Amino acid sequence: MITVNTVHELRAAVAQARGQGKHIGFVPTMGNLHNGHATLVTRAAQRADFVVASIFVNPLQFGANEDLDKYPRTLAADQQRLQEAGCNLLFAPTVEEMYPDGMSVQTRVSVPNLSEGLCGASRPGHFEGVATVVSKLFNMVQPDLAVFGEKDYQQLAVIRAMVRDLNMPIQIIGEPTVRAEDGLALSSRNGYLTPEQRATAPVVYRTLKHIGNAIAHGQVDFPALIEEGKAQLVAAGLRPDYLEVRHAVNLRPAAFGDRDLVILVAAYLGNTRLIDNLYLHLDEKTA
Ligand code: PAF
Repeated sequence: MITVNTVHELRAAVAQARGQGKHIGFVPTMGNLHNGHATLVTRAAQRADFVVASIFVNPLQFGANEDLDKYPRTLAADQQRLQEAGCNLLFAPTVEEMYPDGMSVQTRVSVPNLSEGLCGASRPGHFEGVATVVSKLFNMVQPDLAVFGEKDYQQLAVIRAMVRDLNMPIQIIGEPTVRAEDGLALSSRNGYLTPEQRATAPVVYRTLKHIGNAIAHGQVDFPALIEEGKAQLVAAGLRPDYLEVRHAVNLRPAAFGDRDLVILVAAYLGNTRLIDNLYLHLDEKTA
């Protein structure tokens, strides 16, 4: 695996691979990689001949009081992990390389509707920052396919919509969430948790499963289930940001008869914001 820091070097390396007839797979990341990221790279390597990953902590998607400055930068360990997972080329640009004229004059890409509510409500501008940087990265790498984790469910929906609406010729692949043995979704932000908080954190997934089981068994009073779920989180010492049942594709609030559902949660454990989700397909009988 080689590491490059400029768009010029990136384009040259990708052009060379393309010249050899290779299909390009892409995995954008913010670094501090864990096994979940490794799975994305492995999936890209199964589907493409040449895998590009990027590591860029994108200031445009962080709010003023968020963790941009303390977000862990672990380049050497990340390089090792990427190489082991089958990555061929790492693009690790500086902020100046990505935003040469500064961020305030940056053209933005925004995806209405899907970006509103859920994480979009508590992180204003977040998805505009994500859509902007991902479209820049797509233009720089020009991959045939790109792989994203389903843990960031709303992000994946926003990116799919952006690619469709802007006719980007890129196949978007969602990869299932990788979990620790106790069910906690792997996330770079889990590293912020104290040992006590880490022991508590699996309640997030337990809550999702509890609600999912109830719905799968015919419970249709979603508001009551949500209240129960929030109470479970609060009792464990978390501060729920949202817990909602939505339509799995367009993310509108779930309606009676919907068969493809997703339960989405964001909750604070101390200062750490954990997100997770559970997809649910109901058969005709249950719906
Ligand atoms: O999911 C992430 O790590 C980031 O939001 C992404 C897609 C790399 C854009 O900065």
